[in-house]
Amino acid sequence: RWAAAAGPRRVLLAAPRSFCAGVDRAIEIVVRALERHGPPVYVRKQIVHNRHVVEELEQQGAIFVEELTEVPAGAVTIFSAHGVGPAVREDAARRGLQVIDATCPLVAKVHAEARRFAARGDLVVLIGHAGHEEVEGTLGEIPGRGVLVENVDDVATLPGDRRIAYLMQTTLAADEAGHIAAAIRRRFPDAEGPRTDDICYATTNRQRAVQAVAGGADLVLVVGSANSSNSRRLAEVAAREGTVAHLIDGPSDIALDWLAGARTVGLTAGASAPPWLVDAVVAELRGLGPVTIEENPVAEETISFTLPLRVRS
Ligand code: F3S
Repeated sequence: RWAAAAGPRRVLLAAPRSFCAGVDRAIEIVVRALERHGPPVYVRKQIVHNRHVVEELEQQGAIFVEELTEVPAGAVTIFSAHGVGPAVREDAARRGLQVIDATCPLVAKVHAEARRFAARGDLVVLIGHAGHEEVEGTLGEIPGRGVLVENVDDVATLPGDRRIAYLMQTTLAADEAGHIAAAIRRRFPDAEGPRTDDICYATTNRQRAVQAVAGGADLVLVVGSANSSNSRRLAEVAAREGTVAHLIDGPSDIALDWLAGARTVGLTAGASAPPWLVDAVVAELRGLGPVTIEENPVAEETISFTLPLRVRS
């Protein structure tokens, strides 16, 4: 194989990578709910956007549903890390569901900002991606008083006669979101933005980390599922550094021809992708020949969130 002649392949591990505090908490909530109440417990939408995480929890007795109509009355029901709007909460209350909310506290913070801006009469502009559950939840907080912009061109379509405030989805690419926010401020110089950046610490750190390895790599592999916003952004950020990047759900997605000529591979994982998948990718690469691992963290992460009372021991 290629490696025998060419010497060891270098793997540049981006750090931080993989699970964030919000994902850790959401998974822990499902595990504890299963321990406390016994299976099944119901989870509205994927608890986090990762196929492997969902499959593991399914094996332990979690049932994932798209809508609450699929949940039997009175059952234990968990809301995913991406958050829900009040309409979903009200629906759950009407159905008598025992709700445990796994919404990431940093998403809940954006919800609170949206309500604050809307309450004072602003049109709330949310920078984000259409159809993402987090966007649906945040706009759901302020029905009729929010509007989504996905790119700089969308800014021109905003009404000129309203006071504007803007917010961001937590998992955007920082550079892209910055351009859109700048376009909003150019058109609406008085527009108020988030007090601190809405793009969360985990998204920011993972993007900086992949940037740091992409420049020195021939290829970047990003472990994450296709519906994971922050994972997709990592591949895009790496590509903007000029390095070919592939989003993979796990080692079996790696195509051998990607590796031909790729002596140095950058490797990272989105905030919803389990650390063991990164190990599995490294093992796969080792199976093809000798590998050296290098890791230079760009940030230290110490943040963790407390669990909801209903599952605290
Ligand atoms: Fe929360 Fe950011 Fe993770 S918003 S779920 S800490 S990616």
